[in-house]
Amino acid sequence: MELLNEGYEIICVDNCYNSSPDVLNRIEKITSKKVKFYHDDILDAAALKRIFSENKVDAVIHFAGLKAVGESVSIPLQYYHNNISGTLVLCQAMKDANVKNIVFSSSATVYGLPKSLPIQENFPLSATNPYGQTKLMIEQILQDLYVSDPGWSISILRYFNPVGAHKSGLIGEAPKGIPNNLMPYVTQVATGKLPQLKIFGNDYPTPDGTGVRDYIHVSDLASGHSAALKRVLSQTGIDVYNLGTGKGNSVLELLHAFEKASGRKIPYEFVPRRSGDIASCYADPTKAKKELHWETTRDLNEMCEDSWRWQSQSSGKTSD
Ligand code: UFG
Repeated sequence: MELLNEGYEIICVDNCYNSSPDVLNRIEKITSKKVKFYHDDILDAAALKRIFSENKVDAVIHFAGLKAVGESVSIPLQYYHNNISGTLVLCQAMKDANVKNIVFSSSATVYGLPKSLPIQENFPLSATNPYGQTKLMIEQILQDLYVSDPGWSISILRYFNPVGAHKSGLIGEAPKGIPNNLMPYVTQVATGKLPQLKIFGNDYPTPDGTGVRDYIHVSDLASGHSAALKRVLSQTGIDVYNLGTGKGNSVLELLHAFEKASGRKIPYEFVPRRSGDIASCYADPTKAKKELHWETTRDLNEMCEDSWRWQSQSSGKTSD
């Protein structure tokens, strides 16, 4: 929507594995603009070839990936196939169509256990699960692609913890099954769909003992993509950016902000730490501010208000 509002023509390619095409109707309702849609898979080289031949594409924003850490440990082959092979097929199709501008969704997970905080883009990288490994490998593939042909323009965006929903309450996250992530879990406790939140650990070396993360509103994340797109359209090169607020909030801080935003009490209990979790993680977003001229504008209260509006008005009636 950010891009539609800025006047770009958008083509959406989605296999709808974890989403619903109905979201396009909602986008059209909000923006009064049309999005061309292909119900296709990035693993399908013939489909991509057709899409690039039917359209004049200036740039690709590559969001297509499986993203659940726990699931990636259970079904690693699907993660490697979908995320890695999918990216290879996509990049080959782009190369064949002479489209060399790409913005890629990476993740703060590539920092593993950060050596210090806040996290800067030049920190050492590592992965602790297949999902994280795919993000690291794709970053490497894109680096190699750029070395092979400096005509490419590549922007790698490392997301911190995306939460929130579109202000309209019409578009948001609707995870299938029991959510793994904190915000969707909290919103489902608020509606009574789940009985109580389990807080994984209250003995971390953080101010209140619970885990600290850099929560970023999805609309700020969207404007980060728009800023990255402008950059890849205007110059060649490969760059990596943290997309975060630079501020860490604990599980309890988020929970209390959510209670305030929703007017509902969130029952919780402390349980042992979740394996693989780190104590604290937050970004140094200075590079994105300097080079992309982008920074976040929405605080934790707004993230909670928008998550709640989505959950209480629309989510559950449909998924997106
Ligand atoms: N948490 C709970 N209870 C829950 C769920 C989460 O206490 O039911 C806690 C976690 O222990 C953590 C915090 O809430 O301290 C945030 O957990 P999330 O699962 O929402 O997010 P993570 O930081 O673990 O993981 C997210 C993304 C990953 C990404 C990672 C690193 O889900 O894809 O950030 O950027 F890899």
